[in-house]
Amino acid sequence: MTTSTLDPQVAPSPIGVGTPYRVGPDTHVIPELVAGPDGAFIPLNSMVITGAEPIIVDTGNELSRADWMEAAFSIVDPADVRWVFLSHDDHDHIGNLPAVLDACPNATLVTNWFTVERTVRAMELPLHRMRWVNDGESFDAGDRTFVAVRPPIFDGPTTRGLYDSKTGIYWAVDSFGSLLPGFVTDTDDVPADMWRDSFTFFAQLVSPWTTMVDTAKFAASVDRVARLDITAVASGHGAALRGGRLLRSIGMLRELTSQPIIPVPGQADLDAMLLAGIHAA
Ligand SMILES: [Fe+2]
Ligand SMILES: [Fe+2]
Repeated sequence: MTTSTLDPQVAPSPIGVGTPYRVGPDTHVIPELVAGPDGAFIPLNSMVITGAEPIIVDTGNELSRADWMEAAFSIVDPADVRWVFLSHDDHDHIGNLPAVLDACPNATLVTNWFTVERTVRAMELPLHRMRWVNDGESFDAGDRTFVAVRPPIFDGPTTRGLYDSKTGIYWAVDSFGSLLPGFVTDTDDVPADMWRDSFTFFAQLVSPWTTMVDTAKFAASVDRVARLDITAVASGHGAALRGGRLLRSIGMLRELTSQPIIPVPGQADLDAMLLAGIHAA
């Protein structure tokens, strides 16, 4: 099923913040694309869940602030936002956090102690507007309960995914990522080779420690997520995952500990970029 909001063959430049799209009831992904390798694109998503107590899940990128705020507040009125969930403190998830807290005076920031410690001297976060939720803990948002569940792949120690008990949608943060061919909203629309290869590469980039861990223990962390009653995965760096490809994703994650490490670009690649006239990422 094709659910793309824009046809990459028609869109002149599928880079930047795109049109928000639904991944399930009440649940809207705000997509952003940047250029990736071989003409593909890297998604940098965030999410808004409208319900009895609307919640913004991660806050986009600082350099896209105007477009991101316009997209987010086309879904929910800032005065109605009751929660801001921060998955972790990487810049691509925290980019507009102070601006969002300023714009949403009725919102409580759901985060954890170490995020506060790690962002000290980078931004001032209001302790009196916070709720600290650790891995495995939950909070009530009126018509649903959210559970913080750390995904199997993560690149920061503060990372928590978010499971919505009402819809079964799981925000997987930096797990389940892949390249995209354009503004596609469903992983089923990503060419099979692009999806499979970039899924593993992305996972290794985010978590290069997977080859150093105990296979059975890592598999248990994958199974912990797999046991959630997930209807769809939305994430910071992929299109929505459901059905067969979600099942295959679980299998690919379980196999990560035995996968050979894919080489990353080095100086020769930088030289080639400069020769090609590429001077900024
Ligand atoms: Fe991250
Ligand atoms: Fe990320």
